Amino acid sequence: MNILRFSDLAAAGRAKGARVFIRADLNVPQDDSGRITEDTRIRASLPCIRMALDAGAAVMVTSHLGRPTEGQFKPEDSLAPVAARLAELLGRPVPLVANWVDGVQVPPGQVVLLENCRLNKGEKKNDEALARKMAALCDIFVHDAFGTAHRAEASTYGIAQFAKVACAGPLLAAEIDAIGRALANPKRPLVAIVAGSKVSTKLTILQSLANNVDGLVVGGGIANTFMLAAGLPIGKSLAEPALVDDAKVVIAAMKARGAEVPIPIDVVVAKEFKADARATVKPAATVEADEMILDIGPQTAALLAEKLRAAGTIVWNGPVGVFEFDAFAKGTEAVARAIAASDAFSIAGGGDTLAAIAKYGIEKDVGYISTGGGAFLEVLEGKTLPAFEILQRRANG
Ligand code: 3PG
Repeated sequence: MNILRFSDLAAAGRAKGARVFIRADLNVPQDDSGRITEDTRIRASLPCIRMALDAGAAVMVTSHLGRPTEGQFKPEDSLAPVAARLAELLGRPVPLVANWVDGVQVPPGQVVLLENCRLNKGEKKNDEALARKMAALCDIFVHDAFGTAHRAEASTYGIAQFAKVACAGPLLAAEIDAIGRALANPKRPLVAIVAGSKVSTKLTILQSLANNVDGLVVGGGIANTFMLAAGLPIGKSLAEPALVDDAKVVIAAMKARGAEVPIPIDVVVAKEFKADARATVKPAATVEADEMILDIGPQTAALLAEKLRAAGTIVWNGPVGVFEFDAFAKGTEAVARAIAASDAFSIAGGGDTLAAIAKYGIEKDVGYISTGGGAFLEVLEGKTLPAFEILQRRANG
């Protein structure tokens, strides 16, 4: 993808003394008292901030936090806890600046955090006047917010249109590279794992991947709907019978290309949905009316593991069973370990997937772990994200 990269500008000395505006995604989870419970996104944003500081820029960073009402400041919408964590991680003060749209004072070699950009009126609708004001604050606009790359808002899109220079920060660039490697120029076979409770929420992803991947592994409630499509009994498992025809279309599209959607041959069932429910392994064809499928069985897991080990590229979104309950976690663990052991380039994204990666401690063995939630899903749907589109357009002239 032809985009301008901040790393190149910084290496060329173009950031020295420049006013650099970084749009990061610091939208982190907090508990009721406002304490940050998980700071991966803040840590992932540090390389860009450090790069700008090391290059001698005057650095402004902003992000959204949650979905506040524009123009109505409430303490819980403040980036104050994020500023404190950033200061801790950077080992330097990070002042938080409110009401910043009309001007920001920051000397070269210093960094300030600009208060929640979604508090500005016109942010969400990408208001041109607001975007032009933000663009006027800087010499270089750096988009480093992959988690927000699917939004066309004033601080993510409009500013990129009007800033003197618009480029991708190291995090966004790494995501672009990893996605390109996995989906645009994959080493084959390309195997995707798409799991989750409902086909309806991931139907466009399944349809899009059906045109590209060599193997499409479905899991969770999605797999149950595919099992129905294959004529298997699923008892009282979560499924969407109304989407069986769509599942059949996906299976047929894959088959027509010589690719496959492996359907589970054995499963782990229970009569109740709870951590201590009795787990029974059985052939997929023998699920009873009062049973629900909560995981894939060992034979299915072994078959999938074999396919993953032989893959050239793996895209992973979603656990294949109820991995939060140990009795139904073996399928997801087998998939995670097979991905970790595979020589394939792997890319993983989505909240549950990240939780599974953390549970099995395979972070270092996954090729790339995306920081995007909705943005990652839109990439899998085959959409061009607004961030990529505008940065390409700016790079091309
Ligand atoms: C996310 O949490 O996925 C991103 O920060 C985007 O947030 P949004 O869905 O509120 O735009």
